[in-house]
Amino acid sequence: MKLTVVKTASLQSKNDLMVYFVTQALKKKAPLCADKDVAGMIGRAFTAGDFAGKEGQTFLYYPEKIGKGGVARILVVGLGKDDPSREIVRKAAGSVAACALKTKAEKLLLMVPELTGMSGEEVGECLAEGMILGGYQFLKYKSKQKDDEKPGQINAVSFFALQEQGAVRRGMKRGQAAATAACAARDMANEPGNFWTPSHFAEYGQGLADKYGFRCKILDKSAMKRLRMGGVLGVNQGSVEPPKMVVLEYRTGKKVPTLLLVGKGLTFDSGGISLKPSNAMGDMKYDMCGGAAALAAMAAVGEEQPKGLDVVAIVPSTDNMPGPGAIKPGDVITQYGGKTVEVLNTDAEGRLILADALAYGIEKFKPAAVVDLATLTGAVIVGLGHHRSGLLSNDDKLVEKLLTAGERSGEPLWQLPLAPEYSKQMKSTVADLKNIDKRDGGTITAAAFLQEFVGETPWAHLDIAGTAWNFTEKSYIPKGPSGIGVRLLMELIRNWR
Ligand code: BES
Ligand code: ZN
Ligand code: ZN
Repeated sequence: MKLTVVKTASLQSKNDLMVYFVTQALKKKAPLCADKDVAGMIGRAFTAGDFAGKEGQTFLYYPEKIGKGGVARILVVGLGKDDPSREIVRKAAGSVAACALKTKAEKLLLMVPELTGMSGEEVGECLAEGMILGGYQFLKYKSKQKDDEKPGQINAVSFFALQEQGAVRRGMKRGQAAATAACAARDMANEPGNFWTPSHFAEYGQGLADKYGFRCKILDKSAMKRLRMGGVLGVNQGSVEPPKMVVLEYRTGKKVPTLLLVGKGLTFDSGGISLKPSNAMGDMKYDMCGGAAALAAMAAVGEEQPKGLDVVAIVPSTDNMPGPGAIKPGDVITQYGGKTVEVLNTDAEGRLILADALAYGIEKFKPAAVVDLATLTGAVIVGLGHHRSGLLSNDDKLVEKLLTAGERSGEPLWQLPLAPEYSKQMKSTVADLKNIDKRDGGTITAAAFLQEFVGETPWAHLDIAGTAWNFTEKSYIPKGPSGIGVRLLMELIRNWR
């Protein structure tokens, strides 16, 4: 999708779809619009009772053609009250994308609205995000379709802004970098487990390194043996796919703090010997969404080259299979750094691979802060449902930053507690730790386990099991993987102080 800011806009332009955003007028009046023809049409729709500019309302019409050219369709989109939030603008753009796909409009012209409480830069950003995220499709495995069954595709979107063209363009670019990266995370997640293996994470990381000049190191099975990463190796024991740990470094070259991102890259979670029930097991190809988010965020970092912060991403990756060599309930493993763990349930595998990555990353890079993202527990879905990711942390400042980034990016978080009582629950009688306790508070005990591997480093754990796929009806998030975490991390990185 090509996005540009244009200097002129007219109904005579050759566009498949032209879009006006309007806010709700007060005192039961029709919403206002600068173009008098469009205003007339809005007035009629208002009188008919179909459109009042409320949030989520839209109407589509077909203007009379002037000569040969002219726009084929006009979509009017309501934003509600005259100070809409970033999320409302994002959703509005998502509904534009949905309309374009449905009508097979390929070339769009957006009239960028001027809004109270939101800068031109922010409006440009949220419109770009909504368009790109809402226009996303994954068609790789659909065999050729007949012309009339072919899905639409948005090719070009022009942004026309009366004022602040530079600001709108800056925002548009920012939205584009983050949303494109989120779509890359969706692509990885949409790939089936028989295609997207740990080696693909390695290839993707190497590709980013080549493109953006990052340092990339891939730890393979023998390197992990040398380093004694018993967590990843243990989980990998039942698999025929070799494990990988991707380590990607963005360096500013200045003396600045390092942010470490760690993402769970479990390319398929069968549960292992503690086998999962077969209903919905297919969804467990999405168990790599944390890893996808961490690497995709690095793509956006590569585009934006933020100053003032170095960023390192680590993705421990394997699948979790019940092959003949598989780890068994009761087995004891030794994590990177030497802590021993009694594996009482092989389905609680995410924490085992994350523990190695956290301990290794913290020792090697001495980060100022660590954020890990993982589809870690079913319990977080029970507790929070699908509209908030779980946040657990040992550092209030980091929590504050993340909560703000969550609100601004439309990827909100909800904090759950950590405390010594929960940590105590994870002590084992035969080893240092065990990987499960009883079901209750499963999201917290999982995080308490991870906490054992971060020492005093400010750290936050995001449990995205409820938000990584099929979770919402939002216009800019189609069915399937959401790409959650990428835009949140970018928001965090951009505003780091
Ligand atoms: N990948 C799953 C968590 C999950 C479940 C994500 C459902 C998304 C939807 C994780 O590896 C797992 O199996 N966790 C277990 C832990 C339990 C055995 C302590 C769970 O949540 O049931
Ligand atoms: Zn599992
Ligand atoms: Zn898992």
